[in-house]
Amino acid sequence: MMIYSEKAPAKINLTLDALHKREDGYHELEMIMTTIDLADRIDLVETDDGRIHMDSTSGLVPLDERNLAYRAASLLRERFGIRQGVRIFIHKKIPVAAGLAGGSSDAAATLRGLNRMWKLGLTLEELVKLGAELGSDVPYCVQMGTALAKGRGEILRPLPPPPPCWVVLAKPPHGISTADIFRRLDIDRISARPETEKMIEALSRSDYPAVCRLLGNVLEEVTLEMFPEVRRLKERIRRYGADGVLMSGSGPTVFGLVDRESRARRIVNALRGFCRQVFAVRMLGIPEELSARGG
Ligand code: C5P
Repeated sequence: MMIYSEKAPAKINLTLDALHKREDGYHELEMIMTTIDLADRIDLVETDDGRIHMDSTSGLVPLDERNLAYRAASLLRERFGIRQGVRIFIHKKIPVAAGLAGGSSDAAATLRGLNRMWKLGLTLEELVKLGAELGSDVPYCVQMGTALAKGRGEILRPLPPPPPCWVVLAKPPHGISTADIFRRLDIDRISARPETEKMIEALSRSDYPAVCRLLGNVLEEVTLEMFPEVRRLKERIRRYGADGVLMSGSGPTVFGLVDRESRARRIVNALRGFCRQVFAVRMLGIPEELSARGG
């Protein structure tokens, strides 16, 4: 029995800007995302019953068509007339409904893995296109690394990785619906927008203080208003000594950038009493191991 394994890393947003609301109901976005050293693992095994089976170490992920990884397999089977089935096993490490693109990354890893298993010969670009049919963050998750995402999230431009540093993550107990947060966003009343171009320049110079200073996410106003405890958590991470603090995606996970591991560990320890899911991981920017393998 051959197992095809794929790593499905989490992302954080360094910036997230919503330019306007489109006719199709989605928002025109401009966001910079980067990969961190926190990943699920997807194991794929072929079955001959022509069905998609799912299993997970986490009780929090749905094991049917509500799961994006299931839909990824289903999309490839239909599009390419695949008769074989597959068993998808998700080893969950990324917090669920957290703003870290866990579900999207699982779907992207499923696309990459099934491309190998079913010998579809699809290029990364083709997989990115298919990803866009599944969800706005899936194209980026297919590509990974550091990127500027525009449009709904499907127009991608690779960027230089952030300077090496540590990321302290704190995930409040509740999950968040991205659709709900976008619905509550009043685009005409956004008080502060991230300076996306300046962040790109800071990445190009590998300027750590500038990266920390330029972190920005327009969805913060909405989520922090709805959940004051997320605001308090953010303030706490800054007070404990992070160099820059931001909420990722639509939240509720907040992260702090820290230049040294020892300091990151101290912040994690200090946060423990206030938040159960808190950890420190390395910033990756470029996941070497993943980019080396290709399609
Ligand atoms: O594409 P996806 O299903 O991941 O998006 C989830 C929800 O987030 C959408 O239903 C939409 O309400 C909102 N969204 C948006 N503009 C985007 C991406 C997502 O309004 N560019």
